[in-house]
This record gives sequence, structure tokens and C-alpha cells, in this order.
Amino acid sequence: MTQDIGPETGPVLELGPGTGPFTRALLTRGVRERDLTLIESDPDFAAMLRRRFPGARILEMDAVGLRHLPLFDEPVVGAAVSGLPFRLITPRHTRAILEGVFANLRPGGALYQFTLGWRCPIDQPMLDCLDLEATRIGFTLRNFPPATVYRISRIKTVKTYDWRFS
Ligand SMILES: C[S@@+](CC[C@H](N)C(=O)[O-])C[C@H]1O[C@@H](n2cnc3c(N)ncnc32)[C@H](O)[C@@H]1O
Repeated sequence: MTQDIGPETGPVLELGPGTGPFTRALLTRGVRERDLTLIESDPDFAAMLRRRFPGARILEMDAVGLRHLPLFDEPVVGAAVSGLPFRLITPRHTRAILEGVFANLRPGGALYQFTLGWRCPIDQPMLDCLDLEATRIGFTLRNFPPATVYRISRIKTVKTYDWRFS
């Protein structure tokens, strides 16, 4: 989940950190606590996260609200990490969450999504609609059920020169 992320990533957004296993992994990889913004909707988990990670910014809210929340002045987030159960989230809310995340991600930034399912929890039509692509970058049998990680990033558009307009 965190192998591509380090201190050079800069600000990191985490969605649904729960008790914070990925948060700890991010800190172990050298991400500064002050660079972490954690979005957790459960009040008990949010309170636990405040105790465990006092230097991080912890927002107790539904990630759906990200789209309307000016988290940063500019899109400066280098990576977002998510344990959100997208299979249980409606398409409308999934779209709002993805739009909120990618509004904050700088060019080249990506969303790392954990899943216990066999497929990417964000359907292909949704990815297509938002010009995103998902790449399976990790898998482990050490988790039960086995866990998979997808990197979701903007589709790179290749600029072509159209000679008709020259
Ligand atoms: C499956 S748990 C994953 C927790 C942690 N990342 C882990 O791997 O142990 C999902 C977490 O997302 C939180 N969550 C679910 N829906 C959410 C939403 N719409 N906005 C913010 N947090 C949400 C839950 O409260 C829970 O802490």
C-alpha cells in the first residue's frame, strides 16, 4: 500500500484509516506526521487517531464531503491511500469521493486502494467516466482473505500535433 510513498511525496491523504495500520506504515516510510490528512467518519476511530497521531490533521467526516472542502490552496497532495469499502458505497458517492481526491492530487499523484475482493472495487465505467485507470500493483496471501492493492491514476493524454491547424 505504501511502497511508492515516502518523505518526498509531501502531503498524503488517507481515507478511512480506521485504527491506523496504513498511517503507521506511512510514518515508518518517513512521511512526516504533519503531512498527513486523515479522513475518518467513525467518531470512535477519529478520537483514537487523534490520540495516536497528534501531529496529523484528522477530519471526522464522510469522505463524500471532500469535493466541497478546500483542503489545500492548490492540488499539492502527492498520494492518497484508501481502505474505503467502495463496493458498499453508492456510485454517486464513489464519484464524489474520487472527484474530491483527484481535485487535491497534484499531477502524477495517485490513489492507492486496498481491497479484499478479486477485482478493483471501482468499476471500469466509473474509471472511464473520470478519465482514470487502475493498475494492480500488489497482492498478498498473508492476509485472509487475500488482499490486493490498486494504483488509480489519471490517464495520461498524449498530445498529438494536428497539421490541419498549422
Ligand atoms: C475496512 S475499514 C479499513 C480500516 C484501515 N484502513 C485498515 O485497513 O485496517 C474502513 C474504514 O473506513 C471508514 N469509512 C467508511 N466509509 C467512510 C466514508 N464514507 N468516509 C470516511 N470514512 C469512512 C470506516 O469507519 C473504517 O474505519
